[in-house]
Amino acid sequence: MKPTRPRLGVNVDHVATLRQARQTIYPDPVSAAALAELAGADQITVHLREDRRHIQERDVRILRETVTTRLNLEMAATEEMLALALSVGPDMVTLVPEKREEQTTEGGLAVVENFATLQRYIERLRPSGAYISLFIDPDPDQIEASARLGVEIVELHTGDYCEAAAHFTNRLRPSRFALDVELQRLVEGAKRASNLGLVVAAGHGLNYKNVEAIAAIEPIEEFNIGHSIVAHAVFVGFERAVREMIEALEAGRARG
Ligand code: PXP
Repeated sequence: MKPTRPRLGVNVDHVATLRQARQTIYPDPVSAAALAELAGADQITVHLREDRRHIQERDVRILRETVTTRLNLEMAATEEMLALALSVGPDMVTLVPEKREEQTTEGGLAVVENFATLQRYIERLRPSGAYISLFIDPDPDQIEASARLGVEIVELHTGDYCEAAAHFTNRLRPSRFALDVELQRLVEGAKRASNLGLVVAAGHGLNYKNVEAIAAIEPIEEFNIGHSIVAHAVFVGFERAVREMIEALEAGRARG
């Protein structure tokens, strides 16, 4: 039987953003992760950034002990992060590009351009036992290079689609053209990746409105969503915010 909805990975980074803003011990992303799981999340996702602006190493280590679903560690392909992943043993590692000055992850990994380097890195990451995912743009060459690397999962970057969707709803871009182009790239990319035997995930910039059209794309099995859930949780509480996102995924999948 087909699953009724894609899996939801809840990214709790921005709970830690709020904590780090005042260097307090609250709000705790570990508590948020437990509530997300109670509400039905299938995975907890964290990005340990080089500058430690939100999630800290301690959070990752505690989450490894407490998460009862799956722990997905997003990280840059650096020596420091390799050592951490080998010592923590997350269920899944998502390799992402990282620039110090960026506000959030801009663009996907350049797999084609860094093929040999990534190949060596992935070989060294394998003993961690984690499934390996690459965060890439929905670009045919990047998808095919990812498949050649032998990773299990690709996460398609939905940032350009979300930009187009935001502009469309704000009427800054009155034509549907950009939105349709971006949506089509994701549809084609998901199909291509799935045909190559990859598990397809998606994420970045998704919110309660723009997620439905993406959840309708059948080959996408998993979503990693953070900022919009944490923002909504400020008003309605964490469990309800997660449940409402699950409902949006169900509604989108039913439409597909
Ligand atoms: N997936 C990946 C690979 C990311 O880097 C991020 C941002 O950390 C997300 C998903 C979540 O994005 P957002 O917070 O915009 O939902």
